[in-house]
Amino acid sequence: MKNYIKHHEWNIIEEGFDPHVNQISESIFSIGNGRMGQRANFEEEYSGETLRGSYVAGVYYPDKTRVGWWKNGYPEYFAKVLNAPNWIGIHVSIDNQKLDLAKCKVEEFRRILNMRSGYLLRSFVATLGDGKKVKIESKRFCSMAHGEIGAIRYSITPINFTAKATLSIYVDADVVNKDSNYDEKFWEEVYKEASEGRAIVTAQTKKTFFHVTTGMTYTIESAGKKATFDRVNIEQREKFAGNVIQLDLEQDKETVVYKYAAILSSENHPKDKLVENCKSVLDEASSKGFDKLFEEHEKVWFHKWEECDITIEGDVAAQQGIRFNIFQLTQTYTGDDERLNIGPKGFTGEKYGGSTYWDTEAYCLPFYLATAEQQVARNLLVYRYKHLPKAIENAAKLGFTEGAALYPMVTMNGEECHNEWEITFEEIHRNGAIAYAIFDYVRYTGDEKYLTEYGLEVLIGISRFWAQRVNWSARKNQYVMLGVTGPNEYENNVNNNWYTNTIATWTLKYTLEAVDFVKKDDSQAYQNIVKKTKLKEEEETAKWRDIIDKMYYPEDKHQGVFLQQDGFLDKELLTVKDLRPEDRPLNQKWSWDRILRSCFIKQADVLQGLYFFEDNFDQETIRKNFDFYEPMTVHESSLSPCVHVILASKLGYKQKAYELYLRTARLDLDDYNNDTEDGLHITSMAGTWMSVIKGFGGLRVKDGRLHFNPYVPDQWKSYSFRLEFRGRVVKVKITTDGIETKLESGSPMEIVVKDEVVKIS
Ligand code: BGC
Repeated sequence: MKNYIKHHEWNIIEEGFDPHVNQISESIFSIGNGRMGQRANFEEEYSGETLRGSYVAGVYYPDKTRVGWWKNGYPEYFAKVLNAPNWIGIHVSIDNQKLDLAKCKVEEFRRILNMRSGYLLRSFVATLGDGKKVKIESKRFCSMAHGEIGAIRYSITPINFTAKATLSIYVDADVVNKDSNYDEKFWEEVYKEASEGRAIVTAQTKKTFFHVTTGMTYTIESAGKKATFDRVNIEQREKFAGNVIQLDLEQDKETVVYKYAAILSSENHPKDKLVENCKSVLDEASSKGFDKLFEEHEKVWFHKWEECDITIEGDVAAQQGIRFNIFQLTQTYTGDDERLNIGPKGFTGEKYGGSTYWDTEAYCLPFYLATAEQQVARNLLVYRYKHLPKAIENAAKLGFTEGAALYPMVTMNGEECHNEWEITFEEIHRNGAIAYAIFDYVRYTGDEKYLTEYGLEVLIGISRFWAQRVNWSARKNQYVMLGVTGPNEYENNVNNNWYTNTIATWTLKYTLEAVDFVKKDDSQAYQNIVKKTKLKEEEETAKWRDIIDKMYYPEDKHQGVFLQQDGFLDKELLTVKDLRPEDRPLNQKWSWDRILRSCFIKQADVLQGLYFFEDNFDQETIRKNFDFYEPMTVHESSLSPCVHVILASKLGYKQKAYELYLRTARLDLDDYNNDTEDGLHITSMAGTWMSVIKGFGGLRVKDGRLHFNPYVPDQWKSYSFRLEFRGRVVKVKITTDGIETKLESGSPMEIVVKDEVVKIS
């Protein structure tokens, strides 16, 4: 755990330059706008440890993963989010000495992420080898108003000298992924041009043939006026284009480079128009200028914060933590493009391939449902609808038939791109989360039409999968599900994972309800779905009902707990307290074999089911299971604590809830898991939001109404948040005296506070 980020309500602040934490800060101070993202790398050259990272949404590379122990059904590739061309570069040399923070004395170093306005500020004073001191300040943002524009204001002020300087301002597609095998490069040059004041490179990804055109233009001002240069040289080499400018720097006079970048991808433009369109975007950016662009960008952020801010009184560290999570989520997914999704690392690193996991449906959806227009969450569902044909193909590869759909564990375009048999073939509970998300969306928004339009088809595909995946046990006289991995990945290939069996039958029930709904809602639409999916209604629904009636769920009646899987009680039942500190984290200290045999749990499993389906269980059952499983849980997935906060809050375990909340809220800011340098835990940030709203705030949606059962953690005075709900905006403030609610917009409504109906208007 680290503790170098200064606490502040709206800003993330690092003071003093410590190269050892540079890569962590590069992740933390990342900026993005839903279309692209940029780690907090330096504009100038840096020969120290760094993970350079620019990312463009939807652009990936299918890395080959064929291995000797190949198993039929494995996908052909593992998708990698691609480190995209560098648009931020501004190299500075003064009297032929390179400005490189690894090679000079650095003082007054500050990095600030201003979350309210969405920009990164960095400043420092560097002393070069010959004693020249120069002050640098750079401000940059990825425009939330124009998704293809990035802008930098880079200021240079000589403190004790006047000298000649050389600036190299460029775009560079000669970049490499950290996780590339054998340092293979994934980009090929397609086109480049450079002229005075402008440079453009179009690069193409190998195999996937995405084109990304990265262009830049700039202006330079000296002491507030357009600067004059001695010379501008055009610099071009493979995949690289830029300008090299020689100019005079005068003591105490500020020289400012305004660099505007345009990043366009063939996902959004015809390939043959990319360069032309890039030029128009560059012209637009430079004619508006930095201040105007920034004003437009900031306006979007102000609006976003109005929708999604949470304020916490009495705990600055908690306030900073929650805003940081909201900030990162908001700049990762804006919801205006249904082809995009939320990678576990967002645009802040390469790990997890930047692809889509069940994290989106199980953890992220509630955040977007409650903090943005309905369309944003809807687009996340439509994304999976569009992938349905691929999910059916994916299931077919594994031997399933007749339209059964298995959504991938990890995907970019609907195809599975993860190959570990115990995950790819067995961690099938993900399919249930996709069905659950449809339910969650409809419950929250009341948009039942979604079932008719898209939802039912997906539910039919998933239900068909469950119906084929279970088998009848003659011995038990019940249906069972063998060879699965539950959410707790510290168990593989188990039989009858309670959570998976539970979500499977729940899906079947929900699909039956959806069939009834769509039939009544629009009989023609229903007929079309029957035709399209070739649904044999009578036969298939009868089978689903039979499975619902006769499913086996492992449990121990004596202790009153559901069993994570068959045989769980045969393990040596220890608790986390029995572990030595040097054993933690288990996934770094123990062999996989030892982990699998132990009782220790990576993340909510049975408890995930109790969280999703809490209304089906009484409080005592939830308590017994929580008391049994939580003490064995090591929370080594960042997705784990939030579910426990929500359940602990429900059970009145306030202390436990807060303790777990702290693990999620500042997970990356304080580098709890020692892995922030790889990128931020974007999907679990939504879990932090849920911890506050569903945990402390006790928010649930039942019968089309918002229900609250709130409390204030002892460490806080009060907290407030806003919720978008069915065309209304509701402001909620929770203090130790109770709850204040205000309808900020929309028609009057009823809410339920601690089981009492309250009208708000
Ligand atoms: C978790 C999964 C999750 C994945 C990506 C893993 O460590 O166990 O549940 O989907 O990370 O966040």
